[in-house]
Amino acid sequence: MTETLFNPFAPGFTEDPYPHYRELRDLDPVQEHPLGFWLLTRHAEVTALLRAGMSAEQRNLAPHPVRDQMREAAGGEDWRSGGLSMLDRDPPDHTRLRGLVAKVFTPRAIAALESRVVELVDAALDRMAEAGRSNLVDELAFPLPFTVINEMLGMPPADEAHIRELTGTLVRSLEPLADPDLARRISAADAELAALTAEVIAWKRANPGDDLLTALIHAEENGAVLSDDELVAQVVLLYVAGHETTVNLISNGVVALLRDPGQLAALRADPELIGNAVEELLRYDSPVQSSRRITLAPFEVGGREIPPGTFVVASLASANTDERFWGADADELKLDRPNARYHVSFGAGPHHCLGAALARLEGRVAIGRLVRRFPDLALDGEVEWNGRINLRGAAKVPVRV
Ligand code: HEM
Repeated sequence: MTETLFNPFAPGFTEDPYPHYRELRDLDPVQEHPLGFWLLTRHAEVTALLRAGMSAEQRNLAPHPVRDQMREAAGGEDWRSGGLSMLDRDPPDHTRLRGLVAKVFTPRAIAALESRVVELVDAALDRMAEAGRSNLVDELAFPLPFTVINEMLGMPPADEAHIRELTGTLVRSLEPLADPDLARRISAADAELAALTAEVIAWKRANPGDDLLTALIHAEENGAVLSDDELVAQVVLLYVAGHETTVNLISNGVVALLRDPGQLAALRADPELIGNAVEELLRYDSPVQSSRRITLAPFEVGGREIPPGTFVVASLASANTDERFWGADADELKLDRPNARYHVSFGAGPHHCLGAALARLEGRVAIGRLVRRFPDLALDGEVEWNGRINLRGAAKVPVRV
């Protein structure tokens, strides 16, 4: 093994993966890994792969340490009880499913949420003011997106701690981990979430409301509606993607600001900066670190040819810090960076994040109001990382106001 071989299990990787990405970009940007996958780390190659429309669906069939165990545990069946979501489908199914969800998950529906997001953020900030010292993740970064997607879908008020545990387990299927007990826990968490969702859907059919779930049940295009299994899979996806990612935007974003007093002061001095600041924070520390595809044809990239049927990992986090694209100051936080919005934190191409507008709204309101409300906001101890390689984020951000 060379030193440049991608090794997310190296000590310190989850705390700070960026020096490792830099080395890969410099020395082996299109890496053929001995474990059988390829890894792309430069902005040009990452965007080329994601825009090339390679398969998202076939990655479910590709050998994968955790998914293989899950398939085995499920007697060879696909491990997901709810069927496949749009995230794991190729055209024409992807186009159909995404079209149906996009019909109800509209920019207008999201913009209408702003006043509720402000209310939720202010309530969280009141609690933080009263406590004096708290963990930002538990008080603001997690509960905000969780409550927003819960209310938007029209899910019943949930046992937050239990759901947090279930979705936290489910997203482990996106991690390159092979823990013998993990397959069983992921399958169980998925089955429980799918069953819970199916129950809510059945109730909603009888008791329609003014919510996204009711709209999704009735969404129709060219006479086609979502089947029951498809509906469950899309709802679980929205539900999980709706909070497991945005929590990292808020917590990693606040950590980055608190570690850079100059940039924090610039944001306080110019509240108008918040829109671009959120783009830069998304770039600076990606809430989702990578996307995966299977090549459908020989794929020429960075002077190499990746054969068809290959599992390719595109490092969004590395592309977001590639000096070749961003310039020599790529690893600096610059809230007024003019091209910050060209980050790939929401992916690129046909699977570009459908919830990007919602994530941006929550990020702007949460981070903007937090820094304005507390002029003395400061870290109050060590930041603890969640130990995840893909959905990498701070698990504990002790702050005092
Ligand atoms: C897809 C990131 C928030 C819903 C994606 C993808 C990324 C991503 C990278 C593409 C995955 C791929 O290419 O394989 C993020 C980040 C977020 C965020 C960084 C927060 C900062 C949200 C929210 C929702 C959402 C709030 C909805 C409530 C979705 C959906 C897809 C998706 C439905 C699948 C799109 C498709 O397959 O066509 N997201 N996401 N995301 N995201 Fe997000």
